[in-house]
Amino acid sequence: MSSGVPTIQIQEATASHSLGELGKARGLEIGCAFSGHADARYRRLLAHHSRLVVPEWQLKPRFLRPRRVSPYNFGPCDAIAGFAASNGMAFHGHTLFWHEEPIRWAHGKSFERVKSDYGGFIRDVMHHYPQAVSWDVFNEIVGEQEPLRDEFLISTFGLQFIDYCLRLARENSPTARLVINDYNLECSSDWSLPKQDHMLRLLDALRAIDSPLHAIGIQGHLSSVYRASAASTVRFIDRIADLGLDVFISELDVNDSTMPADIAVRDGEVAAYYEEFLTAVLSRRSVKRLVLWGISDFDNWIVRRQTQEKRRSGKARPALFDDQLQPKPAFDAVVRALESAPPR
Ligand code: XIL
Repeated sequence: MSSGVPTIQIQEATASHSLGELGKARGLEIGCAFSGHADARYRRLLAHHSRLVVPEWQLKPRFLRPRRVSPYNFGPCDAIAGFAASNGMAFHGHTLFWHEEPIRWAHGKSFERVKSDYGGFIRDVMHHYPQAVSWDVFNEIVGEQEPLRDEFLISTFGLQFIDYCLRLARENSPTARLVINDYNLECSSDWSLPKQDHMLRLLDALRAIDSPLHAIGIQGHLSSVYRASAASTVRFIDRIADLGLDVFISELDVNDSTMPADIAVRDGEVAAYYEEFLTAVLSRRSVKRLVLWGISDFDNWIVRRQTQEKRRSGKARPALFDDQLQPKPAFDAVVRALESAPPR
């Protein structure tokens, strides 16, 4: 006997286009962050559109080994790596260093001891995921006011530590692309533009000592408060390309925190933001990868209210697919941006 509650027929939303195939036709890797969610429809959507998987939080230093005596907590990330492998998807290691998930047991005043402790962590993690096609060796180490972030190891050892970790990563995975990833590099605010210069200064210094590095990750968390500047980002991408480095748009999403409550209006504004930003940055052939930091509202850090910017009321709608896994205007907008992108 039906309960009288209407059942929502959830049509599996694989939509017509595969974002991954659209990207592949243009030499562009399309990826998604994945939290390991078990829902089969969601996993099918992900496998249909994404050719690369990034663990959303399961491969962060403190999560993997919070204390020196802790065994490595590889289980959750192994499940994500297994999902990637069983769907023929590449795996990106995010991240070997992040100030928000530090392994303080590897902090110390002796560089030799830090090399042993942090170096051992890097070796262990990279050896556990030999299939990783790329690694965020560093996440968010550039400063806004200062050249580098005020973080213990970065402040204590500076370029020496950064270079050591990059060389060690190269040694432990001779073929993986090594990445330095950061946020607010796409902003136009006067307080964020120095960050672009600070990143370029770091890259110049690393290049001067032949430190191994292949790409810069521009996270691309597009804010409705601090609007991204597509033009400024393209100029920055060109300066990175002049250094012989590729660019990954590594964590793209649109935070609709201050956009209108009306869903149709808000979805339209979100779509327009995706399309304007992506059309501009994908015009550059040095942009080789696009990762969505959550393909749907169904499982998404903005919807979970994990971001600093939060909607005052109503549920966020940041992603290309809604919480019923149905495509939104943002999906069509990203398809248009991919279709207009030149081959690389
Ligand atoms: C976030 C995840 O989405 C959350 O689930 C987790 O609790 C915290 O980290 N920039 C980054 C990502 O480089 O690692 C962050 O991911 C989002 C901001």
